[in-house]
Amino acid sequence: MTIRTALVTGANRGIGLEIARQLARAGFQVTGTSRDPEKGEVARLALQEKGLTVSFLALDLQDRQSIATLPDRLPFSGRLDVLVHNAAVMPDSGDTSRVDLVSMDKTLQTNVLGPLQLSQVLLPRLKRSANARIIHLSSGMGALSSMGSGWAAYRLSKTALNGLTAVMAEDLRPFGIRVFSMCPGWVRTEMGGRSAPRSPAQGAETAVWLATAQEAPSGMFFRDRKVIPW
Ligand SMILES: NC(=O)c1ccc[n+]([C@@H]2O[C@H](COP(=O)([O-])OP(=O)(O)OC[C@H]3O[C@@H](n4cnc5c(N)ncnc54)[C@H](OP(=O)(O)O)[C@@H]3O)[C@@H](O)[C@H]2O)c1
Repeated sequence: MTIRTALVTGANRGIGLEIARQLARAGFQVTGTSRDPEKGEVARLALQEKGLTVSFLALDLQDRQSIATLPDRLPFSGRLDVLVHNAAVMPDSGDTSRVDLVSMDKTLQTNVLGPLQLSQVLLPRLKRSANARIIHLSSGMGALSSMGSGWAAYRLSKTALNGLTAVMAEDLRPFGIRVFSMCPGWVRTEMGGRSAPRSPAQGAETAVWLATAQEAPSGMFFRDRKVIPW
């Protein structure tokens, strides 16, 4: 049996850790990334205690050299089947009337440009898969159809990420690579806070489904396994 491979960014905590756990449990050979290698090692050991093998690589999405060298650091040769862009930041940037452009710049680098560059450098590996998928962890906070106020840097980064999904899905369609955006709902993590109604396991569920579902149409935005408006 062929073992499917997956890469999950920001897998040291939160929803990313849970996506890595669920994909490993589903039989994927999973590589997680962590900005801080020590945090990656802590996560690796925690997964190992549960009987799951997940390798970790250092990746800082603010550092273009770190992204560029990632393919050469992968612990496996050959194809990549699933790329999950999970890592992101949500600075308290205020609304558009006062959003700091430095914060805006950093947020766009981590949440949009870093993922775009990572997909680019991993494209040769993804093209070798017969069923490759790129999954963008987006947010309802970036949906144009239900836009709110505040959190300008984060909202705009997720709107841009959704745009990237739609364009990239068309660009990669000839290669059979599907590209998805998904909102995990409001989830109890460092980003989501303690009052959030969903567990990380619930937040990870649709990403794991998109990693394998044959029926999911490329270039769409999902929540709870259903297409939602942009
Ligand atoms: N939680 C929610 O309610 C919610 C709702 C909608 C969408 N989402 C989306 O779901 C995804 C996961 O969210 P979460 O709640 O699990 O967030 P989280 O707990 O804050 O975790 C964020 C992850 O991103 C990593 N990260 C941040 N900056 C990075 C950088 N420059 N380079 C590499 N990694 C970096 C963090 O690493 P460090 O540990 O080193 O900081 C951490 O692993 C995000 O895309 C988020 O926008 C979350």
